[in-house]
Amino acid sequence: MDYSIENQPLEQLETDCIIVGIYTNQNLSPTAIAIDSAAHQIISNLIERGDIKGKNSETLLVSLIPNSNIERILLVGLGDERKLSYKLYLKALNAAIKAIKNKNFTTVACTLAEIEVLGVDVSLRTRKIVETFNSELYQITANKSIQPPAISLAHLQIVVDTEWNTAANAGLQQGLAISEGIELTKYLSDLAGNICTPTYLAQQAINVAKSVDGLSVNVLEESEMEALGMGALLSVSRGSRQPAKLICLHYQGDDSNSKPIVLVGKGLTFDAGGISLKSSSGMDEMKYDMCGGAAVIGTLQAAAKLKLPLNIIGLVPASENLPDGDANKPGDVVTSMSGKTIEILNTDAEGRLILCDTLTYAERFDPEVVIDLATLTGACLVALGRVPSGLLGNDDALCDDLIQAADTAADSVWRLPLWEEYQEQLKSNFADIANIGGRDAGTITAACFLSRFTKDFRWAHLDIAGTAWKTGANKGATGRPVALLTQYLINCAQKQHG
Ligand code: BES
Ligand code: MN
Ligand code: ZN
Repeated sequence: MDYSIENQPLEQLETDCIIVGIYTNQNLSPTAIAIDSAAHQIISNLIERGDIKGKNSETLLVSLIPNSNIERILLVGLGDERKLSYKLYLKALNAAIKAIKNKNFTTVACTLAEIEVLGVDVSLRTRKIVETFNSELYQITANKSIQPPAISLAHLQIVVDTEWNTAANAGLQQGLAISEGIELTKYLSDLAGNICTPTYLAQQAINVAKSVDGLSVNVLEESEMEALGMGALLSVSRGSRQPAKLICLHYQGDDSNSKPIVLVGKGLTFDAGGISLKSSSGMDEMKYDMCGGAAVIGTLQAAAKLKLPLNIIGLVPASENLPDGDANKPGDVVTSMSGKTIEILNTDAEGRLILCDTLTYAERFDPEVVIDLATLTGACLVALGRVPSGLLGNDDALCDDLIQAADTAADSVWRLPLWEEYQEQLKSNFADIANIGGRDAGTITAACFLSRFTKDFRWAHLDIAGTAWKTGANKGATGRPVALLTQYLINCAQKQHG
């Protein structure tokens, strides 16, 4: 699908359908007013007849617009004009797209960028229109011998007043880069575990780096991890026939030697739990245990496409966690790259084992900040459900920056405390630290474990166990938190370069 910004007057617009907002109390958006006066009060009449009231997310498709190259109008309710929040705006946008999705239109014009939303400028509204269309129209096509019917929509015209052209274009460029990053993340995440192995994921990262300017990659093999002393990471992959890979993406967007932002993503391509085997129900979803890694690859692609003036490094430890004769056993003690010894009381708490060595490895880049993202704990689903990602960290300013980026990107996070009192739960009688902290506060103790390896830099952790994919009838990856991270990077670039 391609996207364009359109400024021509309505009478010159040719489209299969134009999406137009209306409010309750018969209030009309600027375009609705224009159409109404050009086409014999068509919209006011529909409202008067009670066919649509303007309630948020209500839609009405109207055909046959007299004397016009606009074939149809989709009216979409926005609710009370004074109470239109960002969330309600996005909800209505979603409803509008759902209403036209299966209608076989080739060209659609969207005028919702003109709608005023408190704290959301034209550029961000345009970006969200692109992102929402893209994600609503996303289709899973890999490994299906019968392909779903192709989406007919080929062209989206984003209609704005000429004065907003520059802002809308900036939003369009961001929207495209973020959408492509999300799409790549979803694609990789949805792949089956037998296809998307650590080796395959590494090859995908190599392909992405080849196709995008400014991005390069190197992949550490097990022998190199051995030489670095990554005993925790390697102990996990020992239980699998697939060799582990440590994918290192580099994006050099800033000529000056500014310190890099390091993103670390858990890339567990399948998590059966190991000897502490998971129960079988829903275990297929553990192919999604590499969503953090996929989101790192997607975010670096987005940053490179936006040519952000930053230096960014993406690290993705990739491994399987399976019960083999050589797998970790409960009670085993391993030595991490940091030198700290770890008692593995539960082999299913493997994410932190592959992450801790990667976090230690991150030190050598002298990072400005390190942000890791991981489908780390089922406890995060218990605490926060599937709405926000969990956020924890050792630096308030960094956490605040991430919260702000999350609000802008509409990719929410909720911060949990990382207090000293919780560290006690990780005591081990036989090693420096245990890899589990008991039943209580599982998301926090997992982050506590990671915090032992992040003392030397500003660090934040995103637990995306509840947000990286959807379960049930619409099972599929979400591409979160690519939008949040890209926003964070955009904000960093703005801060550094004004
Ligand atoms: N990948 C899982 C976490 C997970 C579970 C994410 C379900 C999403 C849905 C992780 O490796 C894991 O198994 N964690 C354990 C930790 C426990 C053994 C302390 C968990 O959450 O049960
Ligand atoms: Mn696990
Ligand atoms: Zn896992």
